[in-house]
Amino acid sequence: MNIAFVGCGFVFDIYMRTIAAHPQLVVKGLYDINASRLKQVSDYYNFPAYASYEELLADDSVALIVNLTNIHAHFEVSKRALEAGKHVYSEKPLTKQLDQSLELFEVAAANNVELYAAPCNLYSDTVRTMFKAVEDGAIGKPLLIYAELDDNPIHIMDFESVRSPSGAPWPLKEEIYEGCTFEHVGYHLVWICALLGPVEYVTAFSDELIKNKMAGLPPKVGTPDFSVACLSFANGATARVTCSVVAARDHRMRIIGDEGEVSGDSYRQYQSPVYLERFSKRVLNARKFYTLRKWTGLGSLLGIGGKRLKLVRNPFSAAVEGNRQKTGSFKTKMVEWLRRKEVYAQDKLTGIAEAAREIETGAPRYLSPEFLAHINELTLMIQGAGRQGIATRPVTTFEPLGPIPNTQPAPGPAPTYKSLRAS
Ligand SMILES: NC(=O)c1ccc[n+]([C@@H]2O[C@H](COP(=O)([O-])OP(=O)(O)OC[C@H]3O[C@@H](n4cnc5c(N)ncnc54)[C@H](O)[C@@H]3O)[C@@H](O)[C@H]2O)c1
Repeated sequence: MNIAFVGCGFVFDIYMRTIAAHPQLVVKGLYDINASRLKQVSDYYNFPAYASYEELLADDSVALIVNLTNIHAHFEVSKRALEAGKHVYSEKPLTKQLDQSLELFEVAAANNVELYAAPCNLYSDTVRTMFKAVEDGAIGKPLLIYAELDDNPIHIMDFESVRSPSGAPWPLKEEIYEGCTFEHVGYHLVWICALLGPVEYVTAFSDELIKNKMAGLPPKVGTPDFSVACLSFANGATARVTCSVVAARDHRMRIIGDEGEVSGDSYRQYQSPVYLERFSKRVLNARKFYTLRKWTGLGSLLGIGGKRLKLVRNPFSAAVEGNRQKTGSFKTKMVEWLRRKEVYAQDKLTGIAEAAREIETGAPRYLSPEFLAHINELTLMIQGAGRQGIATRPVTTFEPLGPIPNTQPAPGPAPTYKSLRAS
């Protein structure tokens, strides 16, 4: 499918990390409102640059537009693309107001095109493996999910100096103003709602705890840097989701059933290990012993933490694995290898590839418009919950989803990543 990108900032480079593994996605060109950034990124990757958004929208060869603009621009940019008859894949959150998100789906339907949205981490090997354990009955009936999204105290991480490979600064100010809940909670909501179905009741709280996150900003900007939500699902299960840029990094995903627990280390590492612990009196009693908890090797002999499961493979996993630094010094290669293995390794193009597969083959949509609207509503509710908290019901809902589809890459030789760069 021919695609084009609008908004080519920091995250654009993360999308490009795995482009070589998706030869079926042909990048026709880029547009960014910031002319110098547009030139920088199109020179770096050797992609054509459109002179204006109008020129991009008028390019009949482009079937789908990927909207990677700042959150405040999502609505306008997506709406114009849909009205021009383009399919759209938007970064999250879809928009900052539910009525705008619903309007976008109406515009899409009226123009006979599809609107999709990030995140796509539920197509990861880790989530597939967790879902398979649940489907196989390994934990009995899933009752409770704990999902953590603490992403380190933002004010001491020196993010001002972080640059993407092609030179985009990490948008610290934007991230502080939009907040970690808008930026992150969707990563957990997608897999949780894909597994448990629609949410019936939301109880949530959010607050801004850290002052003076960045020089030049007011001490507090009015956006929460911590949020927690308890979600009660129509199927009777419950989930507790936490987001912060206050506490040290913790991305754990735990699905607890009446017979055991399956857990994954991080939503951001698509092949992070998954563990299954079947509940037994022996293991549950062993957990009471301080020494067994402290000496994890000893504890694991008694079954604490469970056994590591073989990962279920998404056919697109090669995108993550093939993302190797093949040039540069030994140190450069080692840093890249460590980052991929130890820090994060994700394929942000999987969601676009799956959207393209569904559109081109006429396969039913896995992530329905109703599902994406529900994720958007929950995100907005949790962010806006405030210090007094909320206990409320979402107005959106969706038909529970089936198993995660087995996405298949199109046949054909993959171009090498390097071939896309300017020499
Ligand atoms: N930074 C990350 O690590 C990260 C990770 C995952 C998702 N995201 C999401 O990706 C999106 C973009 O984030 P980012 O970090 O790349 O931000 P960024 O500020 O680095 O880049 C956004 C780009 O969009 C451009 N832009 C803004 N309005 C535009 C418009 N109307 N038309 C054309 N271009 C426009 C800006 O000039 C800028 O180059 C956000 O929705 C964010 O939540 C970011």
